[in-house]
Amino acid sequence: MTAFFAAEPEEASALREALGAGEALEAPFPLHRGEGVLVAETGVGKVAAALAVAHVLTRFRPSESFFLGVAGALDPSLRALDLLLAEKAVQWDVDLTPFGRKPGETAFGVAFFPSDPALLARAEKAALALGLPFRRGVVATGDRFLAQREEAERLRALHGADAVEMEGAAALMVAWRFRHPMVLLRVVTDGAGEGAALDFQAFLREAARRLGLLARALVE
Ligand code: ADE
Repeated sequence: MTAFFAAEPEEASALREALGAGEALEAPFPLHRGEGVLVAETGVGKVAAALAVAHVLTRFRPSESFFLGVAGALDPSLRALDLLLAEKAVQWDVDLTPFGRKPGETAFGVAFFPSDPALLARAEKAALALGLPFRRGVVATGDRFLAQREEAERLRALHGADAVEMEGAAALMVAWRFRHPMVLLRVVTDGAGEGAALDFQAFLREAARRLGLLARALVE
């Protein structure tokens, strides 16, 4: 069984449609099953993502997972609708620096949570086959929608991050704790600057459609 996770209703419904996941299951968030697949609509933010991933992993024991969604670009060379294959993700709003920790470093000493390398390679193949523009990179995750260019530049400098979103590092941290293979894939909707909310709304639908195409290619 392959599990797919997405935060937003638009993203999750595109995944459900693309994967034929129509059977509703009992869960504290929208969860649907299709043939060999689960689609979880986690809700927005780190807590919601962590809850959903932990629930699905313990209750349904999938063999692999994909967390898909949209992101704001921190790297100005990333364009709207580009696909970012996250090699790793960091929680940019974790700050234990008064205790001598690096920015983003958790109390247990890990800052960056990795995507599974084999799943990352599979995602790369799928993106190539679909002709989607993509590249690998680093994601910064936090419980805030970033809409300030100055802060976007600060995050990029501080963490070497290429994109920002609100769930990835939390989901990957849970997967890492369970020793479960997961990969984080994001399509760019905005530049995390002053126009981010408008761009997000403008590109969300097409980004979600691309995520659906990608999800289907990943299980075909
Ligand atoms: N997801 C998409 N765009 C984002 C942004 N600018 N900040 C946080 N999450 C996002």
